[in-house]
Amino acid sequence: MPVTVVVGGFFGDEGKGKLISHLVQKDVEIVARGGVGPNAGHTVVVGNKTYKLRMVPSGFAGENVEKLLIGPGVLINPEVMIKEMKVTESESKLFCDYNCGIISEEHIKRDNSDVHLTSTVGTSGSGTGPANEDRVKRKLALAKDLPELANYLIDVPLELHKAMKDDRSILLEGTQATHLSLWHGTYPHVTSKDITASAICSDVGIGPTCVDEVIVVFKAFVTRVGSLKAEKMQNELSEEETKRRGWQEYGTVTQRIRRAAPFNLELARRSIMLNGATKIAITKLDILFPDVKHQNSFSNLSIEAKNWISQKENQLGMKFSWIGTGPADSDIIDLTNV
Ligand code: GTP
Ligand code: IMP
Ligand code: MG
Repeated sequence: MPVTVVVGGFFGDEGKGKLISHLVQKDVEIVARGGVGPNAGHTVVVGNKTYKLRMVPSGFAGENVEKLLIGPGVLINPEVMIKEMKVTESESKLFCDYNCGIISEEHIKRDNSDVHLTSTVGTSGSGTGPANEDRVKRKLALAKDLPELANYLIDVPLELHKAMKDDRSILLEGTQATHLSLWHGTYPHVTSKDITASAICSDVGIGPTCVDEVIVVFKAFVTRVGSLKAEKMQNELSEEETKRRGWQEYGTVTQRIRRAAPFNLELARRSIMLNGATKIAITKLDILFPDVKHQNSFSNLSIEAKNWISQKENQLGMKFSWIGTGPADSDIIDLTNV
């Protein structure tokens, strides 16, 4: 697994954090985070501890992980970063790039007071959109301007290129997801930049020729959080039906209820195309088929669950390499060696 990128295939919250916490248990040595910034909320369950991460890479708990990097394309909220660094005990490993943009209180205020952002876009309110707006105007403060970050600064692209030269194993974490991309998503109900695999590589300073694997993560059903003005998803369920099926989820950052719909082949196919997927994963199969919960072997699944998976694989033209069977990092069927 020399250089691998992980991205979301729907509208975020597919469980990228959980897949990454499994992947880093293997041989990953360097983890670098791309994506927008603290608008993301990754849930990582390690043993009996649950972490909700907005800034620290989800791969923090990997046994062989030596460095956790945040690329120059990612916006930093210094307070959130430092708090999470302490909670995850990653002080000695975590670094952000000199050129990461900095979110201020004023950006957060703008994100929460602009009617277009709060109502039409339905943002997470974390200040990322207004900060990216200032970056485009070339007036945003950068990490290298802040004394409180002085001990955590590093040249992320250079670190990654040195690591590649030494054949180290590198995992690049994407946040948000394909259909929230500013270019490829359901505009204007999208985030403030592109977040497909190419953008994640650009965020951390890696060129397209350096990437070996692109993993696109899907969930067994689609959810989206944000503006109620965004057009309904195909076959979107009512809140009542979502709860009846046990599909209800609440935003990690905002606690807003996530709207839900069945697995969408069209969106999934387009994600595979836009990201150049070499591998795909699916999470939350246990929510569709309760007998799947905590399983680690495909052969133990019910015939219904197996049929559901093979139908999707045939329709997508790709096999799933990982199947999520619960929230913990150990709740997974790993089919990469099958
Ligand atoms: P963003 O960067 O915000 O897009 O987040 P994310 O993709 O890391 O997902 P997030 O953690 O926000 O949401 C996924 C939710 O599903 C979390 O509550 C996870 O603990 C949970 N989860 C992930 N995989 C599985 C699974 O296979 N089964 C079950 N039951 N829960 C899962
Ligand atoms: P922003 O990125 O906070 O500006 O929000 C823009 C849109 O993207 C809103 O619909 C958010 O709910 C959504 N969004 C941003 N980040 C995430 C995420 O990590 N998971 C799910 N939705 C997200
Ligand atoms: Mg999330």
